[in-house]
Amino acid sequence: MAHSIALNFEDGVTRFVEARAGETVADASYRLGINIPLDCRDGACGTCKCRVESGRYDGGSYIEDALTADEAASGLALACQMRPESDLVIAIPASSASCKTAGQGFATALRGVERLSPTTIAFTLDAPAGLSFLPGQYVNLRVPGTQERRSYSFSSAPGEASLSFLVRDIPRGLMSSWLRDTAAPGAPMDFTGPAGSFYLRDVRRPLLFLAGGTGLAPFLSMLGRLAMAGTPHPVHLVYGVTNDADLVGVTALEDSAARIPGFTFATVVAAEASTHPRKGYVTSHIAPAQLHGGDVDVYLCGPPPMVDAVRAWLATERVTPANFYYEKFSPSGPADATRLAA
Ligand SMILES: Cc1cc2nc3c(=O)[nH]c(=O)nc-3n(C[C@H](O)[C@H](O)[C@H](O)COP(=O)(O)OP(=O)(O)OC[C@H]3O[C@@H](n4cnc5c(N)ncnc54)[C@H](O)[C@@H]3O)c2cc1C
Ligand code: FES
Repeated sequence: MAHSIALNFEDGVTRFVEARAGETVADASYRLGINIPLDCRDGACGTCKCRVESGRYDGGSYIEDALTADEAASGLALACQMRPESDLVIAIPASSASCKTAGQGFATALRGVERLSPTTIAFTLDAPAGLSFLPGQYVNLRVPGTQERRSYSFSSAPGEASLSFLVRDIPRGLMSSWLRDTAAPGAPMDFTGPAGSFYLRDVRRPLLFLAGGTGLAPFLSMLGRLAMAGTPHPVHLVYGVTNDADLVGVTALEDSAARIPGFTFATVVAAEASTHPRKGYVTSHIAPAQLHGGDVDVYLCGPPPMVDAVRAWLATERVTPANFYYEKFSPSGPADATRLAA
């Protein structure tokens, strides 16, 4: 049976390859022109060592010098030996360019644009043929009529017929202004991607999702996946915004709560003037029980100051989550998505 493998390179580029029955990850990649670093191809040198983020596989045969038992137990594997037994997500410790590949470009069209609130716009694109992505990833979308690109995280889950996005309306922002003033259904759009290492891994323990503003988008995508795949572990989201007008997507969250047993969420508004029942920052609304004594995977996404503040708070709580993934929605810059701990 064929399996889909998402290869995630150091520079954030993701390429999907289809492995035929019995094929190794290295062979499947090479067949599609992607040269994962290899030397012996025999399980002896360890050059092709990579980290398996999700999925099941047969690790094949190799010697201890190439991969120790501890490394194998921690999720490392040898691309020249491993054979997928399910779809896989693999982090390759090399850039896409050094593996002779690059991000893909896709042409599509705007399907719709909708103002959700005075500060937030949603838009949808037709899903182009051949696009796969992991829930939580983003694309680099060209601002129509310019050569400028802006990054936007999918709010839709993989496999949906259209791609959805949530955008904070920046008054003089280039993409914001185009969406606000010019965008009309049918407009040609193009993007490169998917990209980013902020994506949902296999759920092996409770999850704590922390979203700031339109940083909600990747969590909506992840929740879409969880609604389809199910999870035996509790998932809690704390979603903070600055003003009442920034609070969007609550109906989608209620829908997720109805579809995903064990999913709960809380919304929080920071503004003094707000009449919202929960005021302040997300960190004031994380109960100790939601940190599960550290047996929790934490995912954090939002504007850079919010992400920095939450990271600092987690450090002061003296709880080290089993895994901690974050992404900053840096203005018009490269992504800053990092896995901090394993
Ligand atoms: C990996 C990644 C994923 C992202 N995903 C999303 C997403 O899903 N949704 C989303 O809304 N944004 C997202 N962003 C941010 C997005 O890429 C743009 O930077 C943002 O939409 C502003 O683009 P613009 O063209 O409208 O404004 P620009 O023309 O880029 O900016 C105009 C001016 O506004 C300032 N500015 C930009 N952003 C802000 C802000 N938030 N607050 C105040 N001033 C600002 C700029 O510094 C500049 O001076 C993401 C960024 C990254 C790196
Ligand atoms: S290339 Fe040497 S162990 Fe895989």
